[in-house]
Amino acid sequence: MTKVTNRVGLGTFPLAGVFSKLTIHQAEEIVKTFINNGGYYIDTAPLYGFGEVEELLGRALKDYPRESYYLATKCGYIDVEGKTFQTVQKSGKYADVIRECERSLERLSLDFIDLYFVHSPDPNTPFNETMKALLKLRDDGKIKAIGVSNVNLEELKEYNKNGDVKHIQNRYSLINQSINKDFAQYLLDKNIKLVPYQVIDRGQLTGKVYEEVGNLKDGDLRIGRSDWEPEKLNFIAEWSKSKLAPIAKKLGITLGQLSIAWALHQKYMGFVIVGVTNSEYVPINLKANDVVLSEEILNEIDTAYQVLKKEIRDKFGISIREFRGLNEKYY
Ligand SMILES: NC(=O)c1ccc[n+]([C@@H]2O[C@H](COP(=O)([O-])OP(=O)(O)OC[C@H]3O[C@@H](n4cnc5c(N)ncnc54)[C@H](OP(=O)(O)O)[C@@H]3O)[C@@H](O)[C@H]2O)c1
Repeated sequence: MTKVTNRVGLGTFPLAGVFSKLTIHQAEEIVKTFINNGGYYIDTAPLYGFGEVEELLGRALKDYPRESYYLATKCGYIDVEGKTFQTVQKSGKYADVIRECERSLERLSLDFIDLYFVHSPDPNTPFNETMKALLKLRDDGKIKAIGVSNVNLEELKEYNKNGDVKHIQNRYSLINQSINKDFAQYLLDKNIKLVPYQVIDRGQLTGKVYEEVGNLKDGDLRIGRSDWEPEKLNFIAEWSKSKLAPIAKKLGITLGQLSIAWALHQKYMGFVIVGVTNSEYVPINLKANDVVLSEEILNEIDTAYQVLKKEIRDKFGISIREFRGLNEKYY
């Protein structure tokens, strides 16, 4: 692997137009802007645009040397092309994993994938069957490393029985601290890196939170989600304005940069993933890689988080996870 200089990755789910709408040309330009500004890790999945995002990545990346980027994609859903979220099916079966990898390579126009995740555990397939397929792909040079996503600690241990898992991808942020002590210890003991998604909580941990309330456009996937209900969003916005924004201001950085830098400072962290449809955010997000947070600042952020948890408990009588409508795996 080339020397990694920037650990802020590009998430490509928004390139499918699930939040703000954008053209395929704009989406390809975002990918190029990312690499041209020093970005390295690109995260995708067959589910994003049901094959279309992998295809647009194939076109956008074709003129870049292979070592100038690191491509992560996922398996675990079958025959995605032309499907919807309601009709797509999960499978971790051996033959399906092998076939879906071939399809991803074809759409991406690549010979190999740097990091291949199981998108979400398939409860109907023994995990060792899925791992067997992933090891075969690794032996054949089609993938370089294995990861699993949306796992709890028990599931991770099961996938990692023989020590082959190198990364996990779970939802995680400053207000979604989904990795408990035991989980963190396991990651550290096994040298497994967390590649978190939604570290800025789809914009809630940026200055945009102040504008978002009631302003999402028709077709935006965030509409109707429990953590985007106006009352909850207002509550987070008020907290971030009074507790988080002053810390960012003191450091001369944006709220989004503070949230990304906070994640990068956690011990078990690998790359962090941030999605965009507005290319102006790309260099801003990449700059978060260089932000150094002192122990004192990290403590201030933790105090702010503890205040948020307490305020939610006092006002609504529930945990922050319940308040945000997250399941037991925090997504
Ligand atoms: N493994 C899984 O199951 C899973 C699930 C979800 C996501 N993911 C991966 O993780 C990535 C990240 O998640 P996500 O894209 O859903 O959410 P996200 O990264 O938390 O947030 C993306 C949203 O944040 C906004 N944003 C980005 N930078 C900003 C900035 N500097 N200031 C203000 N707003 C900013 C973008 O707005 P604009 O649209 O206006 O640019 C975009 O709508 C995905 O793209 C995908 O690769 C994986």
